[in-house]
Amino acid sequence: MPRHFLTLRDLDRSEIEALIARAIDLKKEANRKNLQRTCAGRVLAMVFEKSSTRTRVSFETAMTHLGGHAIFLSANDTQLGRGEPVEDTARVLSNMVDCVMIRIYEHEKLIRFAENSSVPVINGLSDSYHPCQLLADLQTFNEARGDIKGKRIAWFGDGNNMCHSYINAARILDFELIIACPGEYQPDPAIVDAAGDNVTVTQEPGRAAEDADLVVTDTWMSMGQEPEREKRLASFKPFQVTPEVMAQAATDAIFMHCLPAHRGEEVSAEVIDGSQSVVWEEAGNRLHSQKALLEFLLGGGNPPWLPASG
Ligand code: CP
Ligand code: NVA
Repeated sequence: MPRHFLTLRDLDRSEIEALIARAIDLKKEANRKNLQRTCAGRVLAMVFEKSSTRTRVSFETAMTHLGGHAIFLSANDTQLGRGEPVEDTARVLSNMVDCVMIRIYEHEKLIRFAENSSVPVINGLSDSYHPCQLLADLQTFNEARGDIKGKRIAWFGDGNNMCHSYINAARILDFELIIACPGEYQPDPAIVDAAGDNVTVTQEPGRAAEDADLVVTDTWMSMGQEPEREKRLASFKPFQVTPEVMAQAATDAIFMHCLPAHRGEEVSAEVIDGSQSVVWEEAGNRLHSQKALLEFLLGGGNPPWLPASG
């Protein structure tokens, strides 16, 4: 079975730390115009059931920089959109390409795709998780504030796919995660429970950001939830990240958002466009962290930069 990356839990702590270190190295090298052709001749298929700017461009650019090629497939323009089963699509694509990245609604369908793929499958966002974004966020935190172990992270807003990936990260990398979230929009209790004492969920945004090293949020309307807009706006209003929220956090706290952002909804313009915001570095790091991920998966999980296990 190939290694897949469907959630952050598909990697262990040392692998994630090595990926982040490699991403930081690759970024330095790319800034010197020194591109590493470690995936020469390799092909990535990218299947999108939902819209994307960052995920599409970062994976496609990553494959080009690494000497390979990426193929963009909109689910609606493929036979998937006409009802070809994911299992059949997985068998066919994995006979032709070296890796598949999928952005999909149902996480369970992604699992079925991976079970039928003979090449690594990457979750480019499902309704349940967004692990690629976490690699970029962890790299960004590391660059700004060093090791995340033992740090305090405050999540504001929806208990959504991003929140679930933060919960997984808290457990694996051993940081404290406080989730401030309205009662109706809590993260999945099974995912929270699996993270043990690394994660606390509160419905009170009042003091959730106190002493936080990172404050992070995401849209209140994930893709597919647009019809719930009015109801969600009302429930989430007290959970906006404002300058008052940032003032409770540590003086050197940073602000992150996976983007796209909605100023005046989940975050005020003063915060996202202010001096504590690292959202542009965070978005740019999608490129570097996914290059490291592609090297890891296409190298059979054993690229030369990964420390030997055991
Ligand atoms: N953050 C993120 O995944 O952005 P896109 O939806 O633009 O890919
Ligand atoms: N939670 C958002 C993330 C977008 C990158 C969504 O699923 O739409």
